[in-house]
Amino acid sequence: MSKITVVGAGNVGATCANVIAQKELAAELVLLDIKEGFAEGKALDMMQTATLCEFDTRVKGVTNDYAATAGSDVVVITSGIPRKPGMTREELIGTNAGIVKTVVDNVLKHSPNAVIVVISNPMDTMTYLALKASKLPKQRIIGMGGILDSSRFKCYLSQALNAPASDIEGMVIGGHGDTTMIPLTRFAAYKGIPVSSLLSKEVCDKVAADTMVGGATLTKLLGTSAWYAPGAAGAMLVESIIRDQKKVFPCCVALDGEYGQKDICLGVPVVVGKNGWEKIVDYALNADEQAAFNKSAEAVRSMNNVLTEMKVI
Ligand code: 2OP
Repeated sequence: MSKITVVGAGNVGATCANVIAQKELAAELVLLDIKEGFAEGKALDMMQTATLCEFDTRVKGVTNDYAATAGSDVVVITSGIPRKPGMTREELIGTNAGIVKTVVDNVLKHSPNAVIVVISNPMDTMTYLALKASKLPKQRIIGMGGILDSSRFKCYLSQALNAPASDIEGMVIGGHGDTTMIPLTRFAAYKGIPVSSLLSKEVCDKVAADTMVGGATLTKLLGTSAWYAPGAAGAMLVESIIRDQKKVFPCCVALDGEYGQKDICLGVPVVVGKNGWEKIVDYALNADEQAAFNKSAEAVRSMNNVLTEMKVI
């Protein structure tokens, strides 16, 4: 009997919770928010879809009541402010660092054995903060950005190829930022055929560029950041943990020399199961890809330094 908590009942948190409920990933799902009545309302709305969407997960909304989250197997953190048009994810750090640290502290008081999934932005830095603040074994802290970015990559590839996205393989590693993510075009394939042999270099480059600003494009259109894909991507990660699927996803995890980096959380392919991330998969990057990865790490590391300057870690 699993229990999952989603902290933050905003667009991303509520969507993630809704997909978790519809997939029946847990017997009990707690949605927590600081805004009085907000999570309760969203949870009740979801529960009223139970017979329509045919799920038995019990969704409970609470206002800042961490005791209600006790004994969760997985906790998803979506708290913090989203970006507005023209803002980078990085600009959110000042506000979101304090929020995420408080959430991690509160969550662990009641669910000391939980696997923590971080979605709050800037996600790579918030994952690093969660790791440092919690002092948990590194396998239990996973940042979700790469699954979302890969989903956007496959979406744009499917449009360029005029093929269903489900027939396409594609992975985005590195940071979850407009300039730090790395769509791995060399490994992208349509039913095993490298996309580089089906699409021109110009088209491949455009797909990669569109992927990198995938979130910013939506923020401009919506006036706030996206939620369907971020929420569903979070739920897909939770599913691999809860069902011990051992799927390989690009996730933001603590590196200790892998991919040439140390003392940083960054997106790399990992095997995800019931204990969190279990193993880093080595994609044997070529020199250009490794250089892009190192550059991404440099940018994320300078953001992580802000945490020390702010004295949050
Ligand atoms: C995005 O890329 C919310 O960071 C998230 O849409």
